[in-house]
Amino acid sequence: MNIVILAAGMGKRMNSALPKVLHPLAGRPLLSHVIETARSLQPTRLVVVIGHGAEKVREAVAAPDVQFAVQEQQLGTGHAVQQALPLVDPSVPTLVLYGDVPLTRASTLKRLVDAAENGRYGVLTVTLDNPTGYGRIVRDANGAVQKIVEQKDASADERKIAEINTGIITTPTEQLSSWLASLRNDNAQGEFYLTDVVERALEAGVEIVTAQPDEEWETLGVNSKQQLAELERVHQRNVANDLLVAGVTLLDPARIDVRGTLECGRDVSIDVNCVFEGRVTLADNVTVGPNCVIRDAVIGAGTRIDAFTHIEGGTTGANVVLGPYARLRPGAKLGDEAHVGNFVEVKNAVLGHGSKANHLSYVGDSDVGARVNIGAGTITCNYDGANKHRTVIEDDVFVGSDTQLVAPVHIGRGTTIAAGTTVWKDVGEGELVMNGKTQVSRRDYVRPTKKKA
Ligand code: UD1
Ligand code: CA
Repeated sequence: MNIVILAAGMGKRMNSALPKVLHPLAGRPLLSHVIETARSLQPTRLVVVIGHGAEKVREAVAAPDVQFAVQEQQLGTGHAVQQALPLVDPSVPTLVLYGDVPLTRASTLKRLVDAAENGRYGVLTVTLDNPTGYGRIVRDANGAVQKIVEQKDASADERKIAEINTGIITTPTEQLSSWLASLRNDNAQGEFYLTDVVERALEAGVEIVTAQPDEEWETLGVNSKQQLAELERVHQRNVANDLLVAGVTLLDPARIDVRGTLECGRDVSIDVNCVFEGRVTLADNVTVGPNCVIRDAVIGAGTRIDAFTHIEGGTTGANVVLGPYARLRPGAKLGDEAHVGNFVEVKNAVLGHGSKANHLSYVGDSDVGARVNIGAGTITCNYDGANKHRTVIEDDVFVGSDTQLVAPVHIGRGTTIAAGTTVWKDVGEGELVMNGKTQVSRRDYVRPTKKKA
């Protein structure tokens, strides 16, 4: 089948310079959600109709399997579909989706497509308590669909109809071009309505069928920031529910945000206000404390991530302890049982089995062996103002507090670095390193006192 996604509208009520379909839901443009769902149905052609902000939209969702049709002027939904016709395969049906309706499930679309098999015309409809604003489904005495009438064109009786057009339809494609060409815009909005194609199809002897979604929210569109926020919550509630069903403990399912994919092993527990971005994997028995932000990370079994930890890319082995207030940046690789504590930043660095940096340190561009203790306030000086250099610390090194390691530098196995040392030359194995400093005491020292006004 062909899938055409309408995404040319401007979205005036968003009050934003960003084209409506690019506003993010769960961290990705609304339109990306629709494209992903479309893809899962394996269409032979996938066409996005763009118009308002066309170049930005094209750039944001460009992919080898996506074609674009430009609708220069937004003359209505029928006109929009017409722009896509040169790019579709006339021999298979066409499913029309909306770039601002992000949460429709593939199973619902499949049901519509199946109902419309063998050359039928299918409309996804839903019955609403308050149908105001939507196109109404007008049926005859036998329940057969006769037409769809827009709110603005509807009679008082028609406005009482609670079954509405979600906008999503599937149609035979061969005759679609002549049906669209015959549309007229002598209606309340002066637009070429896609909804009027129902009458053309009936005239041509095509049967009209309807299907319904499992959930009302699947058909909700985004026209305002309020609606965007509501759908974000619907989506997050769904994600949280899936996690709970899979056995993850969420201390409050209303206070987790997943903007990407989160895979969890058994007996994972996640405290409140955590944000997961990109691809995150938490292995068995991982616990995540409150207020953590975790992006693109693979976390090993039994690892404990304490409150306010920020991970922007990295992997950990098993039984690692992170935080509170730890920061891992891209290329951080922690071995089993490593500890990275408060206000410690690790970037593009490996920490071996059981190594610890518990307080106030920067470990960047480094290879740290096993069982290394990195004292509080240790800094790898990896940047000379022009280039980055590596620091290598072999197994069983003890780095005293407030040490600066000026890279490139290599510290041999088992070495002890005294507190407050600046290391700018390589150190061999098992040595004690310190800088020649003297401690001075003065007996005659008097502390200044505050002057009286
Ligand atoms: C449309 C339906 C209405 C249905 C409602 C569901 C028509 C005539 N009406 O009304 O029956 O109940 O959706 O939400 O189809 N678009 C374009 N180009 C255009 C016009 C629209 O790409 O020239 C796109 C918009 O960006 C949007 C979608 O089509 O994604 C729907 O357009 P909109 O103007 O919101 O249609 P409604 O008046 O809501
Ligand atoms: Ca709309």
